[in-house]
Amino acid sequence: MIEARDLTKYYGRRLALDHVSFQAHKGEIVGFLGPNGAGKTTTMRILTGYMPPSDGDAWIAGHHVVDESLEVRRHVGYLPENIALYDDLTVWDYLAFMGQLRGVPSLDERIAEVLERVNLLDRSESFIGSLSRGMRQRVGLAQAILHRPEVLILDEPTIGLDPAQRVEVRELIREIGQEHTVMLSTHILSEAQELCDRVLIIHQGRILAEDTPAELELRVRGAQQVRLEVGGEAPAEALGPRLSALPGVLRVATPTPNHLEVELAPDTPHDVRPALARAVLEAGYDLREMCTVSLSLEDIFLQLIRDEQAEPADTAASDAAPTPTPDEEA
Ligand SMILES: Nc1ncnc2c1ncn2[C@@H]1O[C@H](COP(=O)(O)OP(=O)(O)OP(=O)(O)O)[C@@H](O)[C@H]1O
Ligand SMILES: [Mg+2]
Repeated sequence: MIEARDLTKYYGRRLALDHVSFQAHKGEIVGFLGPNGAGKTTTMRILTGYMPPSDGDAWIAGHHVVDESLEVRRHVGYLPENIALYDDLTVWDYLAFMGQLRGVPSLDERIAEVLERVNLLDRSESFIGSLSRGMRQRVGLAQAILHRPEVLILDEPTIGLDPAQRVEVRELIREIGQEHTVMLSTHILSEAQELCDRVLIIHQGRILAEDTPAELELRVRGAQQVRLEVGGEAPAEALGPRLSALPGVLRVATPTPNHLEVELAPDTPHDVRPALARAVLEAGYDLREMCTVSLSLEDIFLQLIRDEQAEPADTAASDAAPTPTPDEEA
């Protein structure tokens, strides 16, 4: 189990984490989804006991990450963002080295077990320097689970992998997730949706939302655009107002005289496309092309930030008031 309470981190004067709180339980895969610089790695370094927070507390399997950092390291397996592997060791020797450091009992048996688990048993005598990126990532996973930790923290575990390897590593994580508490970070929306039981959306050091994949799916499905290419003389101008008036349409942009971008309302239960097609044809134009475009992660973040700012700040007033910085006070 992982518990984080109001984790805050400053690097010098830069606020990297701003009161981050969450929990993750056994048998659960929790995803940290956020763009570059959001604070994912910072959180994970704190949780694994590699760096203290400026403020706040966290516990791994009941052990405090600062006060009991040795215990924490025993109970946590960590796949860092840029794992340093020893290129001139064989896979087996590297794991033996890591296992000895951590005092893993019956080490040879355990290494064989773990290598089978990550599907690398046939490469155990290969030098790490000769492995592909995906294989190296699997060696990283192997070292993370070697000492049978209760909690696994995986920083962008599928980054740099080809699609086939990505599928393989995801399957492996899903398997591991059944008996561990897993927290992973990603900036790939579909990966978070596919792999995680719960997704925390983090941006600029703050958790903006906590969603199940189903809720996330709704959010994302809401954040869609239908793009139309229409034939005829300047149809966009004539069609814009007509399409805007259809149920489920939020607004319509006309980037060129023959192209329309239709933004759909977030919670439209029905498929708007047939109505769009009919409206174009009934107005006497040709429909050359229609496609649905999902907004990017960045777009969804922007939307979340807008939503957040639009919300009445009923809790913000009482929560934020006691902790202004001295500069703001003066
Ligand atoms: N060692 C450091 N010294 C100073 N600032 C840092 C340091 N590490 C991170 N930061 C800053 O803290 C913020 C959060 O960085 P962090 O590495 O946690 O983001 P991230 O979510 O892991 O991003 P990415 O997706 O790029 O890996 C960023 O603004 C970053 O510049
Ligand atoms: Mg990172």
